[in-house]
Amino acid sequence: MQTFDTVILGAGAAGMMCAIHAASKGGRVLVVDHAKAPGEKIRISGGGRCNFTNLGTTAKNFLSANPHFAKSAISRFTQHDFIAMVDRHRIAWHEKTLGQLFCDNSAKDIIEMLAREMEQNGCELRLRTTLETVTKNESGFTVALGGDGSARIQCTNFVVACGGKSIPKMGASGLGYQIAEQFGLKVTETRAGLVPLTFGEDILPHFREMAGVAADARVSCGKTSFEEAVLFTHRGLSGPAILQISSYWREKQPIRVAFLPRDDVAGQLMNAKRQNPRQQIATAIADLLPKRLAAYLTQAHGWKGNLADASDKKLADVAATIQGWEVLPIGSEGYRTAEVTLGGVETSDLNSKSMEARNVPGLFFIGEVVDVTGWLGGYNFQWAWSSGWAAGKAI
Ligand code: FDA
Repeated sequence: MQTFDTVILGAGAAGMMCAIHAASKGGRVLVVDHAKAPGEKIRISGGGRCNFTNLGTTAKNFLSANPHFAKSAISRFTQHDFIAMVDRHRIAWHEKTLGQLFCDNSAKDIIEMLAREMEQNGCELRLRTTLETVTKNESGFTVALGGDGSARIQCTNFVVACGGKSIPKMGASGLGYQIAEQFGLKVTETRAGLVPLTFGEDILPHFREMAGVAADARVSCGKTSFEEAVLFTHRGLSGPAILQISSYWREKQPIRVAFLPRDDVAGQLMNAKRQNPRQQIATAIADLLPKRLAAYLTQAHGWKGNLADASDKKLADVAATIQGWEVLPIGSEGYRTAEVTLGGVETSDLNSKSMEARNVPGLFFIGEVVDVTGWLGGYNFQWAWSSGWAAGKAI
């Protein structure tokens, strides 16, 4: 039987961050992962450049049954703390848009930074290693590992950092939820988040014709809106505004897409009518929107004739449709392409300061496995860093 102070399941963003801080006070820390390399999601994130945090991170950027839960960790290990760590390692970065910070070079810089700090703090990493069983005993946990790092281990703390269900091809397993249930913690309903939305055959052929068209829009579902780009694809709608709203969308709910969200479209059409009364409505719209999108909206709504023949009321209606296009998704692309899993280990069963299970001393849950999900834009990694730090400090 080998002994460690802390065993961490999952060498992803949260697990590695936790390991560094749990080991920094001298504790013996083992991180196990069934993948062949640590931080695989970091590697592919942000188009290979890792959108590692967001300058504007606050608890408002997260979805959770308890909107206050994330506050403690996020305010104690902030985006600025992570930026300071990145700077200490001389990793060059830039702000792209909306406070989103990316590596100049490669996401691998972030993985190397975490791996280096783990090594400096004496953490052991066992890859291609699976968890067979974990059971509680009087002095902590007995952990049976299989695969390359196979062993029986006694540890005081057991940290679940094995992420959610998104992208099973990359090793997502959902095991964290089973461990939570095994120890009597509740798990809220889980579903795919930050994911493209899919549509039925009534409208999909038109989307296919527009595949590749992108337009700025304000996309709303219920009371929530995001203003970013929408992208038409062969399967439906994607782009940042759609990924953002997907986390709020529920089946059978329509979404509203306001193209040209900041423009006075009615005013622009009326202006065009004054200046060029013989212009076709379709041509006037094509001056405002990408051509294929303008052609689709014109045909779908039967906007015919020239501007002179259209009353100002009709032009106002056309503008209202362009800025209030309603569509009904039939689903999402699911975990296959989702960036995150919504829902997870119920926060009321965890201490928000330490991420420790309220009723199981020594058992911790961090990162995506917890019912805290960020918006698109670096917030999910910030949650991984902050929650990993909080548990590491508490151990
Ligand atoms: P994470 O999934 O990173 O790590 C879990 C680890 O546990 C993995 O190494 C896995 O192999 C291991 N594991 C799982 N099951 C196991 C088992 N049964 N046994 C052993 N090991 C197991 N966020 C962001 O803020 N900015 C961004 O740019 C992006 N970009 C992005 C792109 C894509 C394509 C995806 C899919 C996701 C993103 N995200 C993102 C989201 C971000 O990747 C995610 O929120 C974090 O990686 C979550 O960190 P965790 O450490 O909780 O889980």
